[in-house]
Amino acid sequence: MNITILTGAGVSAESGMKVFREKDGLWENHRIEDVATYEGYVRNKKLVHDFYNMLRAKVKKLDPNNAHIALAKLEQNWTKGKVYLITQNIDDLHERAGSKHVIHMHGVLNSMICEHCGKELEFFEASTSEDVCPHCGRALLRPNIVWFGEVPYYLDEIEQILGQTNVFLCIGTSGVVYPAAGFASLTKTNGALNIEFNLEKSKIASDFALGVYGKAGETLPSFVDKLLEMGDFSFLNKDNS
Ligand code: OAD
Repeated sequence: MNITILTGAGVSAESGMKVFREKDGLWENHRIEDVATYEGYVRNKKLVHDFYNMLRAKVKKLDPNNAHIALAKLEQNWTKGKVYLITQNIDDLHERAGSKHVIHMHGVLNSMICEHCGKELEFFEASTSEDVCPHCGRALLRPNIVWFGEVPYYLDEIEQILGQTNVFLCIGTSGVVYPAAGFASLTKTNGALNIEFNLEKSKIASDFALGVYGKAGETLPSFVDKLLEMGDFSFLNKDNS
């Protein structure tokens, strides 16, 4: 029984990361168009570098929460099939909680990418808008983040994973950004058991057989413990109405 997990900003909220869709429509006090689009980057490279430098420094000081820890425990202890972890988050809190195979479909904060040759470089410090690719020397390095309008990473691999998924757990995502928001409908069509964990019903709640509502750091640990103890999902009351 293969389990696929999709996480979004909500899984890191209890660690101190801000979610994207705050009521004020800003992301960490910035307009999304300014810091999460290629057009914004071209308009003001320094602002964009400074923004991701700020985020990188902030994440360094945060710790994984009980939701990240529970998911790492599931990966390490599930013996009845595979566990795949796909995240829309750019932080490294899943890895620091102990998850070994994390698919970062929207890129990672601790990485830069060359605009010319596509070389990806691990990066943990502060970048500037003058940093040239040390590999080809022909272009600037930019944050290795998938911005709005750009194609997410690993889509072929993700398609294969979704095709082998028996249980789909969707955690802390509002279900408005595609293609990730479409994964639940795909696994549902394939006959998987879909469960969402969120503070409230998401935009795609009707794609789930079950919703577990509350803080993921509080709901996930007991869910994972029960699942590992039982070895199956028979303990669930599958009614998301
Ligand atoms: P959003 O900010 O849109 O949604 C966060 C979701 O987490 C909401 O549905 C909240 O209800 C839920 N949530 C908040 N705190 C929670 C908690 N403690 N436990 C459980 N759920 C909680 O973030 P995403 O759905 O991740 O893309 O956004 C998707 C993508 O849009 C992001 O990856 C990013 C963004 O713009 C790019 O940057 C390309």
